[in-house]
Amino acid sequence: MTETSPGGATATGSAGAGNAGAGSAGAGSAAAAGRLAGKVALVTGAARGQGAAAVRRLAEEGARVLATDVTDPDGVAFLPAEQEGRVRFARLDVTSEEQWAGAIDRVIEEFGRLDVLVNNAGVLHFGTLEDTSLTDYLRVITVNQVGTFLGMRAAAKPMRETGGGSIINLSSIEGLAAAPLLTAYTASKFAIRGMTKVAALELGQHGIRVNSIHPGMIDTPMISEALGGYQPDLAPVARKLALRTIGRPEDIAAMVAFLASDDSRYCTGAEFVADGGATATHALNVTG
Ligand SMILES: NC(=O)c1ccc[n+]([C@@H]2O[C@H](COP(=O)([O-])OP(=O)(O)OC[C@H]3O[C@@H](n4cnc5c(N)ncnc54)[C@H](O)[C@@H]3O)[C@@H](O)[C@H]2O)c1
Repeated sequence: MTETSPGGATATGSAGAGNAGAGSAGAGSAAAAGRLAGKVALVTGAARGQGAAAVRRLAEEGARVLATDVTDPDGVAFLPAEQEGRVRFARLDVTSEEQWAGAIDRVIEEFGRLDVLVNNAGVLHFGTLEDTSLTDYLRVITVNQVGTFLGMRAAAKPMRETGGGSIINLSSIEGLAAAPLLTAYTASKFAIRGMTKVAALELGQHGIRVNSIHPGMIDTPMISEALGGYQPDLAPVARKLALRTIGRPEDIAAMVAFLASDDSRYCTGAEFVADGGATATHALNVTG
């Protein structure tokens, strides 16, 4: 694994900024300061999007974090200067068993323990069932589903050895209900939701909690990347939601921080939805 020293400028939109219901960045930070003090987290897919937001929020609340990704972060430009000492970056391709072993060694070497694993890395592929190639199907399954399996398996031992931990798996609303053009993605996200519960049942006796997060549509580069760079107009989607707005990475980071903290000490094997109300209705909604 190669290593990059954290550094760089404050990200566009600071951690915790505008988290609905979590207070403003300033007030929220002050109220929650130290909630994760003493905890060590490993976040996958942390170079951008929701992973980067999760790293900022976890560090803001006092955790030390090994931020990992298969690519170099955008200059780790997501870190406010005061968080730099609490965050390290390491390369981790979540599909590699060998690299998972290296990342676990690294987090123990760097911070001495592992309390929180955020299985966030994911890829999206749009295509009808008939047009989805086996290569594309397996790529999505391998990153999203196999990557989550390998991560949970690698984290269990170090967490057991220190008396427990929290594993947070990024599923999706496509892990709760289907959407056309998303066969591979939906399969992978249902699988994550299912294996989260198996892991919760097996690991609960060791003090390890395992939960899944189910975001709705969140404003990150994931969708445009899956569309070959095309930026779709998301306004028509937003208009269908109860909250009339697309989510932000910080909205999911707030939920990650809750599940990482002892505030969620009695939550395991559960599904945490943050979707603006997307799954509150069904196709027979007569108002459109
Ligand atoms: N954005 C959304 O609307 C949305 C909705 C529901 C769920 N999710 C899920 O949330 C998670 C984060 O999504 P995002 O929107 O921030 O996506 P993103 O595309 O902005 O970021 C994903 C990150 O994962 C990394 N990655 C890809 N393959 C990897 C691999 N093999 N190993 C390690 N890292 C790898 C990428 O380099 C990237 O930094 C994903 O699991 C995604 O499926 C996203």
